[in-house]
Amino acid sequence: MASITLKNIVKRYGRGPSANQVIHGVNAEIKDGEFIVIVGPSGCGKSTLLRMVAGLEEISGGELLIGDKVVNTMEPAQRDIAMVFQNYALYPHMTNYENMAYGLKIAKVAPEEIRRRVDKAAKILELSHLLERKPRELSGGQRQRVAMGRAIVRQPKVFLFDEPLSNLDAKLRGQTRIEIQKLHAELGITSLFVTHDQVEAMTLAQRMIVMNGGVMEQFGTPEEVYHTPASTFVASFIGSPPMNLLKNAPGSMPGRILGIRPEHLQVVTEGGWEIQVDTVEMLGAERLVYGTLNGEAMTIRIDEGAPFPRAGESIRVQPSGEQRLHWFDASSGKRI
Ligand SMILES: Nc1ncnc2c1ncn2[C@@H]1O[C@H](COP(=O)(O)OP(=O)(O)OP(=O)(O)O)[C@@H](O)[C@H]1O
Ligand SMILES: [Mg+2]
Repeated sequence: MASITLKNIVKRYGRGPSANQVIHGVNAEIKDGEFIVIVGPSGCGKSTLLRMVAGLEEISGGELLIGDKVVNTMEPAQRDIAMVFQNYALYPHMTNYENMAYGLKIAKVAPEEIRRRVDKAAKILELSHLLERKPRELSGGQRQRVAMGRAIVRQPKVFLFDEPLSNLDAKLRGQTRIEIQKLHAELGITSLFVTHDQVEAMTLAQRMIVMNGGVMEQFGTPEEVYHTPASTFVASFIGSPPMNLLKNAPGSMPGRILGIRPEHLQVVTEGGWEIQVDTVEMLGAERLVYGTLNGEAMTIRIDEGAPFPRAGESIRVQPSGEQRLHWFDASSGKRI
């Protein structure tokens, strides 16, 4: 096992004046055994960052350490890392056992040691009864577990996951997420997990790196990111529906943006802000009220069972506490 240190990591594709810089100086100290999620929208540089840690992509600037060793120029095979991708590409002509054992066989690990490691991984992943089947005889989720098993048996210092759950349906994703958590609790291997899904990030991460356009906007626990987002970008990316960001809220100062989450507004009979209701969505456990306040769009979450307005009506709402208000600088978007 090992810590991972990113010191001012930069990535440029191409050279000279036409080079395209896609990672702009990322700093992070990841502790031995931590489960870190890298989250952000498509194209923000998540895979690039992961591939630099894996050694699959050259690092253009800065220093990358695994443990206390600088690994910038170290070959991928020397880094003691195992990677699980979205497209896990199992060998179709091999059994699941052979798929999991293959890398160890190539590395000339003794057959009885291979047997021991594959059996152990299969047990953790609940695949023991499926080892003699071929990958095509498994469900998508089971196949993804074989791909994870193939990574586990290598007993790496670091696990890297690049959107490994994206091909699974919602239910299987949920289940596999729980398996990954169990796996991490059991093995305690330092892990970097890439996703564009903020729910996946919130549920899996011990700490998360929120990326935007090649910049690390925030590095913190899910609680920190949710309760004290570092910027308007983080505020609107983490949490669903996104935080309301208001330029013209009553009592607001010029040059500031007020943020308030839909779940932190309560309906009141007097005082508060008057909202014109445009539409109401029923989502089962809650209703989402979409309205306007001083010409700005505003979403309010109302628990199922509570009285709710209809389109065309107006309601009064107020924040459910001073600590629920977030202030951001209007020009930089940074938290004040
Ligand atoms: N080989 C390459 N040459 C030039 N630019 C590249 C190359 N690979 C990636 N990029 C650019 O680098 C940026 C980051 O790409 P990256 O694949 O890391 O994004 P991502 O966050 O993983 O996105 P996604 O969620 O879609 O997988 C993108 O703007 C992309 O176009
Ligand atoms: Mg990617």
